[in-house]
Amino acid sequence: MRQLKLAGISGSLRKNSNNTAILRTLKERLPADIELSLVPLDGLPLYSGDLEGPELPAAVAEFKAAVEAADGLVVCSPEYNAGTSGVLKNALDWASRPANASSLKGKHVLIMSSSPGFMGGVRAQAQLRETFASTLSRVVIRPPVVIAGVNDKIKEGRLVDEPNIQFALDAIAALASEIQVDRAC
Ligand SMILES: Cc1cc2nc3c(=O)[nH]c(=O)nc-3n(C[C@H](O)[C@H](O)[C@H](O)COP(=O)(O)O)c2cc1C
Repeated sequence: MRQLKLAGISGSLRKNSNNTAILRTLKERLPADIELSLVPLDGLPLYSGDLEGPELPAAVAEFKAAVEAADGLVVCSPEYNAGTSGVLKNALDWASRPANASSLKGKHVLIMSSSPGFMGGVRAQAQLRETFASTLSRVVIRPPVVIAGVNDKIKEGRLVDEPNIQFALDAIAALASEIQVDRAC
């Protein structure tokens, strides 16, 4: 069976980001037939229709190509003021173009979030579900992967909470299985 290629997108640009650390940990823990490549959002300009045209800004073209090349996306978002980060929303707005025929149409997506608080960023997930629905993506429907109290669960750039790791790995396995079923159709 062909190796699955997943793109990991962290909603934080911060060097010591918890969300990036979570994706890094999962990348290292996945079975050999699932590859998770982290796709950085650094360098993406703020979306403006004036920048759209036959030649997109290089960072945008690169980001869209990474999304298109992936069999599925694993998004890990912080929660900012009860929604997702502007950085992630901006990236998804770029990826959503052209409307209804974009890099995100039909793409399988797993949404995860983390937060130092006890709700684990679940409100960011609610907003992301709406965004992905509007881009015709196929979000995995499962109990949400929320990593609450995250500041105590990251050590030396890795998630160390084993139940959280296993829950997230199971969710990625569900994503992989949905992709395989789709492929077989
Ligand atoms: C502007 C701003 C708004 C925030 N709003 C929330 C919030 O609504 N809920 C929450 O749980 N945490 C909130 N936080 C805390 C973030 O969840 C926390 O900084 C998180 O670790 C950032 O993710 P990162 O470690 O991947 O950079 C906020 C942080 C910032 C900077």
